Amino acid sequence: MTNKLAMPNETGYFGEYGGQIVPPNLKEILDEINIAYEKIRNTDEFLDELHELYSQYVGRPSPIFYAKRLTNKIGGARIFLKREDLNHTGAHKINHCLGEALLAKYMGKTKVLAETGAGQHGVALATACALVGVDCEIHMGEIDIKKEHPNVTKMKILGCKLIPVSRGTKTLKDAVDSAFEEYLKDPQNFFYAIGSVVGPHPFPKMVRDFQSIVGEEAREQFLTQYKQLPNIVMACVGGGSNAIGIFTAFLEDKTVDLIGIEAAGKGLDTPNHAATLTLGSKGSLHGFECYNLQDKQGNPLPVYSIASGLDYPGVGPQHCYLKDIGRVHYETVNDKECLDAFMALSRIEGIIPALESAHAVAYAMKIAKDMPKDKTILINLSGRGDKDADFVAEVLDL
Ligand SMILES: Cc1ncc(COP(=O)(O)O)c(C=O)c1O
Repeated sequence: MTNKLAMPNETGYFGEYGGQIVPPNLKEILDEINIAYEKIRNTDEFLDELHELYSQYVGRPSPIFYAKRLTNKIGGARIFLKREDLNHTGAHKINHCLGEALLAKYMGKTKVLAETGAGQHGVALATACALVGVDCEIHMGEIDIKKEHPNVTKMKILGCKLIPVSRGTKTLKDAVDSAFEEYLKDPQNFFYAIGSVVGPHPFPKMVRDFQSIVGEEAREQFLTQYKQLPNIVMACVGGGSNAIGIFTAFLEDKTVDLIGIEAAGKGLDTPNHAATLTLGSKGSLHGFECYNLQDKQGNPLPVYSIASGLDYPGVGPQHCYLKDIGRVHYETVNDKECLDAFMALSRIEGIIPALESAHAVAYAMKIAKDMPKDKTILINLSGRGDKDADFVAEVLDL
């Protein structure tokens, strides 16, 4: 990668964020993963295999769709969608899961394990492990298991072992704690396939690299289809993988504004949100330094969003850095705005988005109306809403 914002440094820092806040024995293993990754990442063999899977298995490139009816309804800037929802398994997560599963196999690991919130990372990882032939174990909070049951069923069908997590808030952070504990039992033989651009070095870098395909395609497609770059590129931010995936190719395009959307949940003036970059402070979590929603003692606070994939008290270190240098702006959308956007995109364009992605759609709808008609907004539509359909129907009493 030649982009000068394509960090981290050798110790895994993006400015003052990232690193490896782990015991020395784990550091050794993480360094082995980094060495293995650096060794294979640019080899023809690895790249050919990964890119063949991207095109013939995932269905890449995902198209860019002009949401004309939504644009006309709102008035103002034109809205475009990068259709990651059309990928095999229904979200962007498959992009890094295939990379991680191939690396785990190359390193001779016996079990791949991970956490999942919305279940998209779990399904994508179970799929990738079935494909490359390694055992897979997914930890998931009990609340998310109830809410995202279609994905739970899929994980079981795909042959992965599902571990329900009943501690704490029974959501994403607790699932990470649980999966991490299991990983520490045998890090030599297990591979923790982190589900976003979070965790200790080299995961934020590796997951970012695997997700960068989204922005690389989008930039080229936009230039080819519309003979210009978009004015704004927008994505929801949980841990931050789909956002960094689409932002990376545009980081050096000064004319392109980059906006990440966090979950305001029930409101920023309540404890029920997951606006880590907006309201958090610097701390460490799950082996790396980042903005955190934490109490005075540095313990992570319980977080909440209607979108299970966004309720994480930390965020990828590169996002923290990009916020500090002002290259990316982070805004928030609450549950109600998210649900309105979920229904709007479904009924106006016939596209049911994931609740996570609906946060980005909501913010685009909010700002597009005040923008001139010749301006353009490109949204990373990170996933489809099949997993959320029953839940939304219940909440809205449809
Ligand atoms: C469809 C979808 N979009 C976004 C996210 C948030 O993750 P990230 O911020 O890593 O893209 C998730 C997480 O589960 C998801 O399933």
